[in-house]
Amino acid sequence: MAGTVVVVGSINVDQLITIERHPLPGETLIGTSMEFLPGGKGANQAVAAAQLGATVRMVGLVGRDPQAEVATAILTRAGVDLSHVHAVDGPTGLALVTVDAGGENTIVIIPGANAQLGAEAVEAGASVIAEAAVVVLQGEIPAAGIVAAMRLATGRVVLNLAPVIELDAASIRRADPLVVNEHEAALVLAQLAPNTVIPTEDAELVARLLEAGIPSVVLTRGAKGAICADRDGTHSVASPRVVAVDSSGAGDAFVGALSAQLAAGSSLSEAVRRAVRVGAFAVQGRGTQTSYPSLADELPQVHA
Ligand code: RIB
Ligand code: NA
Repeated sequence: MAGTVVVVGSINVDQLITIERHPLPGETLIGTSMEFLPGGKGANQAVAAAQLGATVRMVGLVGRDPQAEVATAILTRAGVDLSHVHAVDGPTGLALVTVDAGGENTIVIIPGANAQLGAEAVEAGASVIAEAAVVVLQGEIPAAGIVAAMRLATGRVVLNLAPVIELDAASIRRADPLVVNEHEAALVLAQLAPNTVIPTEDAELVARLLEAGIPSVVLTRGAKGAICADRDGTHSVASPRVVAVDSSGAGDAFVGALSAQLAAGSSLSEAVRRAVRVGAFAVQGRGTQTSYPSLADELPQVHA
């Protein structure tokens, strides 16, 4: 039987604005639509994994406000266990997401309750974290919360260091895998090997992160797919070609799918092969969680 996935992470409401093109500093533009949708990298990853059949529990915080219900609506519908999601004083996390006609996004986050997910709040979920086959972490909670979750974890730790926050080297080396995009990979390598010249080649970047002591690395490359590497070797995985509507949260769909596959016993490269297809599916739809596939959906195919 597949083990459980526990996501320790952020829960937001996304204020999603669509606009023809992004404004320049000092410029005023008229947008085309605005919606409030559930988001937050942690919650997104939990929804993606649950909709693909994984048993998922979430450890997180929301505010004592009406936004909390918006933020957790799809988590609830997807069957994610929220018994370790608590309400605290202050607002639920908010993300201002702006998406242009080409599907490119910019995001500004106001962490709200997520900023309180430090060591103590994470330790309140100790029992479920310790039992998890896979613990999923991202950079939208305090570093102390990430470190606490790693200390409690007995299973595999998937660390999606998005955004890159400062974390001690021993904690980064606990990631198996570390999941980062090209930009984040360069920042992490600079943290681990301060005097190094950062390679411009993606495969080289991955090799250097392994050399720096991380057991496995997955580099996400957008439309170019992903590179994954561990002791068994390095694989370059192509992505299906799709028409981009909204790329926000596609990376989280990838991480959620990857974690669900790893909890089900897949090898890293098998898990990455499925995750790129799930990420590509998500790019085709508006919003983050609202664009994620369920088991019944057909995933786009990779063509040579
Ligand atoms: O990765 C996309 C997510 O980043 C959004 O849902 C937003 O809430 C921010 O956390
Ligand atoms: Na999307």
